Amino acid sequence: MKQTIFCTLFYLLSLGFFSCQPKQEEDKTVEVPEEIKSNLTVNTSFFGTLPSGDTATLFTIKNQDNMEVKITNYGGIITSVLVPDKDGKMEDVVLGYDNLEGYLKSSPYFGAIVGRYGNRIANGKFMLDGKEYPLAVNNGKNHLHGGLVGFDKVIWETEIEKKENSVALKMKYLSKDMEEGYPGNLNVEVIYTIDNENAIAIDYIATTDKTTHVNLTNHTYFNLTGDVKRDILDHSLMLKADHYLPVDEGLIPTGELRNVEGTPFNFKDFQKIGEEINASNEQIKLGGGYDHCWVFNRQTPNDLEILGELKEPTSGRVMQLFTTEPAVQFYTGNFLDGKITGKMDKVYNQRFALCLETQHFPDSPNHPDFPSTVLKPGEKYESSTVYKFSVEKEVGN
Ligand code: GLA
Repeated sequence: MKQTIFCTLFYLLSLGFFSCQPKQEEDKTVEVPEEIKSNLTVNTSFFGTLPSGDTATLFTIKNQDNMEVKITNYGGIITSVLVPDKDGKMEDVVLGYDNLEGYLKSSPYFGAIVGRYGNRIANGKFMLDGKEYPLAVNNGKNHLHGGLVGFDKVIWETEIEKKENSVALKMKYLSKDMEEGYPGNLNVEVIYTIDNENAIAIDYIATTDKTTHVNLTNHTYFNLTGDVKRDILDHSLMLKADHYLPVDEGLIPTGELRNVEGTPFNFKDFQKIGEEINASNEQIKLGGGYDHCWVFNRQTPNDLEILGELKEPTSGRVMQLFTTEPAVQFYTGNFLDGKITGKMDKVYNQRFALCLETQHFPDSPNHPDFPSTVLKPGEKYESSTVYKFSVEKEVGN
């Protein structure tokens, strides 16, 4: 009996029965934080299962202009970007697949996050603090885009952050010590932010527990005609760059910074990509077209600056490139050869897309005079790039 009275009393007390204040209401608002109202929408769906049994998710983010960006946490891949043309017609401006199977079967880094080191490292090795680090070799005798299983082939942890006029999709990955040969546990965070101004911002952050090299980028293949109607040779490009890096037959920079003046590499003013892509020029031949690194003329070393712009005359679509990086690998899809059929059953022939991979110079670990890609414990790697879409009624050259 005593026990029953005690229990009843305890029960009433726990309900706040003897309190004068209606406490329950207050507690509720503390426990359930109010959802931030965003005028963009985010949907998540199942994208596929990996051979490991892990599942990939697809995030669909739509803004007020109906721009729609799809990103999966497999490789942090941007699978689709719908933006309006000059008449408001929404079409896809990136290459890729409808499903995970496509990406698992064969993908030349379509839309992916590339790391730990975007681009090539000669002979797949470097010296760091007096020690040689052999890396995975996956491109002739060289190391390319992080190795056999780079950041483009792993599952990233995700988190969504909504703001009134933007949505951020945060992706996290721990690249373990000696993964693909690189020293140090590297904690990587890549944040994709979509806003109402039709911009896709990509922020890269990384920290390490041992000295290592880091050079992160994104490998989206753009074709602004919309739904990949034809090649990209009619697109016009402008790059604020007086110099580019000539390469050897393995596409490794020779170390020279060559002036673009009077060469097919001069994009200081808008130039049609097809204009000189077949020029009889030793560097064009080595690249099979453009597959080189342009060194930006930066105003400040680390600020986000507009350093490039791409225009497509028929659709009127324009894409501006902002970055904090010192350089960009401009690649004209020279290795696409019609063997890949992507979304909407489109066959991806040679030069059906182009990449603007913002980054530090290729093979920097073996060029002490190039801007350093070394990251030490206690330091923070930070890099940002923005691809911003708009339209011009009359796109000239
Ligand atoms: C990069 C390289 C190219 C090629 C593509 C992927 O952009 O510079 O040479 O390897 O990736 O096919």
